[in-house]
Amino acid sequence: MSQNRYLMESEEESIRLELKTDPRAMRRQARWAGIQKGMRVGDLGCGSGKTTYNLNRLVQPGGFSLGIDISPRRIGYAQDHYKAPGLDFALGDIRTPLEPHGSFDFIWIRFVLEYYRSAAFDIVRNVCSVLRPGGILCLVDLDYNCLTHFGLSPALERAMKGVMNHLEENADFDPYIGRKLYSYLYDLGFSEIRMDLSAHHLIYGPIKRNDLFNWVKKIEIAGRQSGYEFKEFHNGFEGFYAEFKAFFCDPRRFTYTPLIICRGKKPY
Ligand SMILES: C[S@@+](CC[C@H](N)C(=O)[O-])C[C@H]1O[C@@H](n2cnc3c(N)ncnc32)[C@H](O)[C@@H]1O
Repeated sequence: MSQNRYLMESEEESIRLELKTDPRAMRRQARWAGIQKGMRVGDLGCGSGKTTYNLNRLVQPGGFSLGIDISPRRIGYAQDHYKAPGLDFALGDIRTPLEPHGSFDFIWIRFVLEYYRSAAFDIVRNVCSVLRPGGILCLVDLDYNCLTHFGLSPALERAMKGVMNHLEENADFDPYIGRKLYSYLYDLGFSEIRMDLSAHHLIYGPIKRNDLFNWVKKIEIAGRQSGYEFKEFHNGFEGFYAEFKAFFCDPRRFTYTPLIICRGKKPY
């Protein structure tokens, strides 16, 4: 995020985040990472609050969860939909000192570091200052983001690569953040580091409503924000957008995205 603006910001972003979260998968991942009853959890870059709510279910009884996000819209949405005893939300920027929010036994950061290609390691180091010694840090992100479709026309293939290259250069976005997570915990001296690799998207056959909404929104916002010129299409972005939508609705298309999870314990 080269500027102070979240790349995916839009009127519908809270809804997009809400629809794309699979509670069963993320609870399984958090259990794998070592979340336990009674813990104080920080969900950093919490989005709509759905992930915070689901993490909080895993720490009851006796636990507490705080979702922190830079966006007043996200925090407003989270408070309206998920605020409950033992679960709260606060505005905050994870690039700045987080001590006013207290310290945590378990910190979860999902799909946030990808927006900070040049600052991701500094962010991880910063959040470590509010993780208690022996506490668990769990980083969850994608690899080859948006670059693993099969069945694209040559024009669409070229444009997708162009969009992602532009986002890397102009918006500090990192389509390859997943593969870097291990080095962050390694370099910070974490112990008991464990990695997991699975498919976040695995899309073939007839399109599901939620996948269509998420991907079309993602491509619309990312495509517009990238500054890519879409010269492959006679009507520029509109041609690209229409062709991507047709590709994505075609049951022959195949799309996957690797999800990488890295968890470790902060040294005493
Ligand atoms: C793609 S969403 C992921 C939301 C949630 N973690 C999830 O997994 O659904 C990224 C979120 O990070 C937030 N964000 C971006 N930069 C941030 C920062 N510097 N500090 C706190 N939150 C940030 C955005 O507002 C957005 O809600």
